[in-house]
Formats: sequence, structure tokens, C-alpha cells
Amino acid sequence: MTFANAKATVYNDKVVRQLAIMTVVWGVVGMLVGVIIAAQLAWPDLTFGIPWLSYGRLRPLHTNAVIFAFGGTGLIATSFYVVQRTCQVRLFSDKLASFVFWGWQAVIVGAVITLPMGYTSSKEYAELEWPIDVLITLVWVAYAIVFFGTIGTRKVRHIYVANWFYGGFILAIALLHIVNSAELPVGLFKSYSAYAGVQDAMVQWWYGHNAVGFFLTAGFLGMMYYYIPKQAERPVYSYRLSIVHFWALIFTYMWAGPHHLHYTALPDWAQSVGMVFSLILLAPSWGGMLNGIMTLSGAWHKLRDDPILRFLIVSLSFYGMSTFEGPMMSIKTVNALSHYTDWTIGHVHAGALGWVGLITMGSLYYMIPRLYGRKQMYSVKAIEAHFWIATIGIVLYIAAMWIAGVMQGLMWRAVNADGTLTYTFVESVKATFPFYVIRLLGGLLYLSGMVLMLWNTAKTAAAGRVVPVSIPAAVAHA
Ligand code: HEM
Ligand code: HEM
Repeated sequence: MTFANAKATVYNDKVVRQLAIMTVVWGVVGMLVGVIIAAQLAWPDLTFGIPWLSYGRLRPLHTNAVIFAFGGTGLIATSFYVVQRTCQVRLFSDKLASFVFWGWQAVIVGAVITLPMGYTSSKEYAELEWPIDVLITLVWVAYAIVFFGTIGTRKVRHIYVANWFYGGFILAIALLHIVNSAELPVGLFKSYSAYAGVQDAMVQWWYGHNAVGFFLTAGFLGMMYYYIPKQAERPVYSYRLSIVHFWALIFTYMWAGPHHLHYTALPDWAQSVGMVFSLILLAPSWGGMLNGIMTLSGAWHKLRDDPILRFLIVSLSFYGMSTFEGPMMSIKTVNALSHYTDWTIGHVHAGALGWVGLITMGSLYYMIPRLYGRKQMYSVKAIEAHFWIATIGIVLYIAAMWIAGVMQGLMWRAVNADGTLTYTFVESVKATFPFYVIRLLGGLLYLSGMVLMLWNTAKTAAAGRVVPVSIPAAVAHA
């Protein structure tokens, strides 16, 4: 190992602070909209006849707000924090980094205005109309330049594995966005997809599933590989496994999309390819999860009194749960039962609330005090309370949806001896009502935890002070 002198300078943490605060704010907003639509599913009259509040408009607002505003801003925040620390160099360009922050917030505000107005391209998770798509492209290119530029100017020879995951996420999302959003504008807020029929569906679900694989997974695995070793003060359990994990995961995810199109006009062989790759995906997913959990080897006792570590490790249990469930649901015969039911919604939120939500919260709880020159958050008790409120909320949400989903699937396929259906559709809706109320309760708990986090963050920022963090003068060349 050799040492070289690095320019004594400071990290650009201003943009990380801005991004971190907005992650918490968007978390509250996105989850609040989730709670509203959960209430509307139980009591449909809650739209009060106002078009802006109709379920069809608020649902995409929820998904965009939680995935792209909360998740996306959190990913950009943590990637900027991690890439500077692991490369021991300031961000490649302050101006571009600032453009990434403001540009991404403008995209979100655009979504908050246009989606309730009913403007949509009607492609799930890619609903935003073409002018916003163009802005997303510009912001993403700037993001890629800042991130890879920082890696290019690094003072440490080795590229730490967290950056591989963040880098994979940035490149894959660029590719997905460009291909899936190819569209023909016919007005300022109206466009038509460049694809038609089953090709359109396949491109959409190639995008949709990789949005799960790269937006909701790869980037968050970047968080896992940095924040868990940091908080546990232990090295990654197996560095070799982390490299195998990276390549196996990104290769396999790309082929699994057709499992969203079982029993459709998509050729049967393509559906089977999707199913087989989804089953294979269990291996890298669990390999990665175990690598994260085993990083705690020799430090298990820390879980007893470290609520931040609990956020990080429990998020991995939910990751394991949803990446076991996903491959099972991709088996055609299982999908015949689960598709169209609330089982899918239960699966989604095991991943979204349990994995994406908890890992982001844990990473922010590690990072925010450091961004404000403090050892810890303003209230550690509030972190502890947040952990339990959120976990109970998740369990209520996903258990209710699993039971409701399996019940719906079984009711819809039940037939009498004479071949007629045993239940009408509306009977299955009525039977689901209590589960919708339980889900709403779970969502309310999860949202309250997030509000508590917003309070704790505001207090930490107010009580802390901004201390520029210097880049170490002597840098190790691995
Ligand atoms: C307070 C927390 C939350 C509540 C109450 C909530 C509630 C809901 C509801 C009611 C739906 C519509 C379900 C349906 O159409 O039947 C939904 C959909 C969805 N939510 Fe959430 N949500 C919450 C948090 C989150 C978070 C944090 C994420 C992601 C990080 C997320 C991602 C999604 C996605 C991707 C869908 C669409 C699922 C699909 O189309 O299959 N949600 N949510
Ligand atoms: C090995 C990993 C995974 C596999 C093989 C998998 C597989 C599946 C399958 C088969 C469906 C149901 C498709 C349908 O019937 O329409 C589904 C839906 C979904 N999954 Fe997963 N899943 C995995 C992990 C995850 C994770 C970790 C998350 C979230 C963080 C997630 C988010 C979603 C979403 C959002 C949907 C609903 C998409 C929609 O219809 O709008 N999945 N997944």
C-alpha cells in the first residue's frame, strides 16, 4: 500500500444536505398521498367529486412521489455522499451537481402539477409527459457526468463496490428512460408511444421490471454496501461475493420483465424466459442480502441498542422476503392466482416500505448528523420510536394485502358444480373492505414515523452547524 498527498480541500456537502432534506420532505408527501388513496379504496366517496382528487390521478402521483421524489432524491443524495468519501475527492462539478438538485426538484414539481391535472402518457412509472421527459434526460446526463467524473478524478485507485451499484443504476436508468419514453408529441402535453400493441407492452415491462431492478434495488444496494459497514464498523462480509453479486444481478434482471405479461398476447416462449430468469434472480438477490446481513458478524450485539443499524438490517430481511416472493409469483401457475389481486400490492410494499423505505431512512439517520457537524440525530429516542412504528405499519400493510390477495384470487376462480361462478365480483370487493381498513392503519403508522423523522431532521439541522469536511491529506492507494 502506498500513500500520496491529496489536495487539501473539502467535500461538496451543500448539495448532499439539500438533497437529504428534500428526501425526507418528499417521503412525507408521497406517503401522505399513499394514505389518501388507501382511504379512497376503502371509502371511494373521498374524492368529493373533485377531478384533481380522483383515484386515477392520485395513484400515479403516489408512485411518482415515493419512487422518484423520495427514492430518487435519496439515491442522488447518498451517491454524492458516498462517491466523494470512497474516491476521496470533491464532486466533479459543483455547478452541475447544483443543476442536478434543482433540475430533479423541478421534475418532481412538474409531476405534482401535471398528474393531478390528468396529463399522462399512461405508461406505468413513466406517466410524465414529453416536456418533463426531456428535462429528466438533461438532469440524468448531468448526474452521470458528476458521478462518473468524480470517479474519473478519484484519488483512490480502487473503485469501491457501492459505486459499482450506483453506477449500474445510473447507466441502466438512462437506457430504460430513453428507450421506453420514445414517443411522438402531438401537442404540448400529449404524446403517443413509439411502439404499438404487444411490443409496446413488452418495452413497457422491460422498463417496469428494470425500474424495480435498478431504481428500487441496485442503487439501494449501493447504500447497503456503504452504510451497513460504516454503521456496524465492520468490513463487508465478503468483498468477492459483492462483485459476483453485482454482475449476476445486473445480468439477470434485464431478462425478467415478461413475468408481468403472463397469459397475455406476448409469445409463450417469452413469458417462459421471463419466468426462468426470475427464478434465477433469487440466487444473486439472496447472495447480496446475506452479504449485507453477515457484515454484522461479530457485531450482532450492536443491534440491541443501535436503532440505525436495526433500520438497515431489518430492511434486508424485507429485501429477502420480497425477492423470495417475486420469483414465486413469476411461476405461471402462481401468477394465475396472484395477478390482478392485492397480493401484488402486498409484494410491492414489502419491497417498497420494508426494503427501499427502511434502508433509505437508516442511511439518512447515519448521514444527516454528519452533514450538520453532530455525532448523532437530535433525538435517538425518536429514531427508536420511528423504527417500531414503521415496522408495525409494514407488517399490518403487507399481511392485510396478502390475505386479501389470496382471498380474492380464490373467490374469483371458485365455481359451482354446474360451472357457474360461486361469487360475484362485488362480493370479493365487499370481503376485501376490512383488509383495506387495516392497510390504511398500517399506512398511517408508516406515515407517522416519517413525520417524526421530518421533525427530528429539522431539529438536528437547527441545532447543528455546517462544518466543512476536509478530504484526508494522505490517501491510500489500494
Ligand atoms: C404510507 C405509506 C404508503 C401507503 C399507505 C401506500 C399506499 C398505496 C396504495 C393504496 C396503492 C394503490 C394500490 C392499488 O392500486 O390497489 C399503492 C401503490 C403503489 N405504491 Fe404505495 N403506499 C405507501 C408507500 C409506498 C412507498 C414508500 C413506495 C415506494 C418506495 C410505494 C410504492 C408503490 C408502488 C410502486 C405502487 C404501485 C403498485 C402496482 O401497480 O402494483 N408505496 N400504494
Ligand atoms: C427477485 C426479485 C423479484 C422478482 C422475481 C419479482 C417478481 C415480480 C412479479 C412476478 C410480479 C407480479 C407481476 C404481475 O403479476 O403483474 C411483481 C410485481 C412487482 N414487483 Fe416484484 N419481484 C422482485 C423483487 C421486487 C422488489 C425488491 C421490489 C420493490 C422494491 C419489487 C417491486 C414490484 C412492483 C412495483 C411490482 C408491481 C408492478 C406493477 O404491476 O405495477 N419487486 N414482481
